[in-house]
Parts: sequence; structure tokens; C-alpha cells
Amino acid sequence: MAMATSPFLHPIHILEFRRCPFLPLNSQFPPRLHFLPRRFPSSSTIRASSAVLMESDTSTRQDQAKETEIFACPVCYEPLIRKGPPGLNLSAIYRSGFKCRRCNKSYSSKDMFLDLTVTAGLRDYAEVQPVRTELFRSPLVSFLYERGWRQSFNRSGFPGRDEEFKMAQEYFKPAEGGLLVDVSCGSGLFSRKFANSGVYSGVIALDFSENMLRQCYNFIKQDDTLLTSNLALVRADVSRLPFSSGSVDAVHAGAAVHCWPSPSNAIAEITRILRSGGVFVGSTFLRYTSSTPWIIRPLRERILQGYSYLTEEEIEDLCTSCGLTNYSRKIQQSFIMFSAQKP
Ligand SMILES: C[S@@+](CC[C@H](N)C(=O)[O-])C[C@H]1O[C@@H](n2cnc3c(N)ncnc32)[C@H](O)[C@@H]1O
Repeated sequence: MAMATSPFLHPIHILEFRRCPFLPLNSQFPPRLHFLPRRFPSSSTIRASSAVLMESDTSTRQDQAKETEIFACPVCYEPLIRKGPPGLNLSAIYRSGFKCRRCNKSYSSKDMFLDLTVTAGLRDYAEVQPVRTELFRSPLVSFLYERGWRQSFNRSGFPGRDEEFKMAQEYFKPAEGGLLVDVSCGSGLFSRKFANSGVYSGVIALDFSENMLRQCYNFIKQDDTLLTSNLALVRADVSRLPFSSGSVDAVHAGAAVHCWPSPSNAIAEITRILRSGGVFVGSTFLRYTSSTPWIIRPLRERILQGYSYLTEEEIEDLCTSCGLTNYSRKIQQSFIMFSAQKP
């Protein structure tokens, strides 16, 4: 049971928290955290935000710098309080428990991923998402994904993993040195490359599928440098991203938009978590392009019904309606890679 691994459940940890060295004996608990804006682009720190612990009831106000978690509660977006070893690497996060002070909800790791879905830890309620999301939760599809499934996208114009990575890195230039979230990472084929590149202070591989995240972990553990790098695995819904507003430098979403239950909610969420100047890069299959013969279009509409296959105009419309600017895209057959920036 997920909650059994949470250190928050045991009273001893509450006692330990009360003895936190940051806190004078007469201070309120839990402390109030206030965010300070951070300059963009970020420094080498892996923390997305710095916070100041404020002691309001003392005459000489003592402000103490304290790092807060990059993760926020998916229910209320309050930054989570962490109990456990610091760091964004797999083992530190696995050994940590996370708690929302406002919702009083605890989050912990299952296998090697941290479950930050709204439904994390629920016993009776199980949510079923649309087919395009559920398909990738299957162990078989997750296993096959990097063993032929993804490679088959090349037939529709996808340039392939190495070339797509290069294209994305070009778009991400303004976000270098910052925190990158690889949303809908699947088995982590790009997350691993982003983490290995050394260009980002931290990489979070995020997906809704537990089995994709297990695959992701299996690939990561074959590479010692990745095991100890600033790479975390998180389960979350793209429509409810567990990060504070304006706390992320770069969001990547490879071959994903067509799988999302609501691209508009997803892009609104991505925009929310990006900081000013932050960059979103996505790729997907287009419903059709300007060169698709008119006679074929209704057929494609019919076949792709129930999926979120968009046209290039729809993608640009969604990005700009969420307030993103500097929209740019590259198209090859049905493949589109697009980029937009938070003003
Ligand atoms: C086609 S795979 C893309 C994987 C990888 N990014 C790539 O470039 O190959 C689509 C991914 O979207 C994920 N996905 C579907 N619905 C999602 C949701 N609501 N929230 C987060 N991820 C979701 C699936 O689990 C799947 O791993």
C-alpha cells in the first residue's frame, strides 16, 4: 500500500519535524512559506523555487533561506513538504515522503516513481481514462514501446529519436541550465537524453502510465550515471501537473498531444507551470496537413475520431490562446514539432 511507505504516517516523524533546526522553539508549526521570485535563466540549483521562512510573531523578523520542494500538491498546488534525504535523484526521492500541509494528503513512491496523481493512495476509487491514455498503461504496450512501437512513427514522418532530440535542444536554448519536465515521457527515451546531456539542472520524467514509468526505470538502471543524476520519475496527469505556477524552465512533450484527454487543459497547465521565458516543445501526429488531398480528409477525420489528432492551425491556436508566444513549428508528413514561449 502506497501510504505504508510514507514517513508522515508515523508520529515519530512529526516529533522530528518539530525539532527541525530551522525553527526556534516558540515558532509556529508548520512554518509559513513565501516564495521569492527567481531570476531566469536558473542557476545550477535543482530547486525550482527558493523560499523564505518567516517568523511573523517575533519583533526582530528572522528570515531564513530554506529550499522548498519543486513538487506541488496536485489538488491545491501548494508546494509539498518533504521528509527525507534532499536531491532530485531516484534514490533520494524514493526514500522521501511528501505531504501537503493544506490538504493533509501524503504522497510517496511506488516502485521507483513518485505518484503525484490526485488519486494517489486511494483504496476504493479507480479512475479510467480515455482509451488513448489507458492503452499506454498496459504492460505489453509499455514493454513494446521502445522495442519497435516508437520506431514505427518514422513511417509517418517522425525523424527518429536522435534527430528529434537535436531539434528539441535547439528550441530549448533559452531554457538551458534550468529544470526540464518531460511530460508524457513514455519509457523515457528523451528524458534519458536530456538528463545525459548535462544541459539541465534537473530532469523530471513524468507520465500517467505506471508501466511506462517502470520501463523508464529499467532503462535508467542500465546506466550508472543516470541512476545518480538529477533525474526523477513522477506519475501525474498532464491536466493536473504537480508543480507550482511559474516554477519550470522547459516542458517537453514528445509524440504526446494526440494521446491527451484534453489538449486544451494540458497546454493551459503547461503554460501555468512555465516561468516567464520558459519554453514548451511538443511533437505529435497531425490530423492532416495542407498537402493532404481534400478527398482523404473526411476519411482521416473518421478514422482518428476519439483521438486528439489536431491540425497545425489548431495547435497554434491552442498555444496562443493560452498566452504562449514565439510560436514556431517544423512539419514533415504527419509529424509536427512545435515550440512556444511563456512571455
Ligand atoms: C506515444 S507516447 C509518447 C512517449 C514519448 N514521449 C515519445 O516521444 O515517444 C504517449 C504517452 O502519453 C502518456 N499519456 C497519455 N495520457 C496522459 C495523461 N493524461 N497525462 C500524462 N501522460 C499521458 C501515455 O502514457 C504515453 O506514455
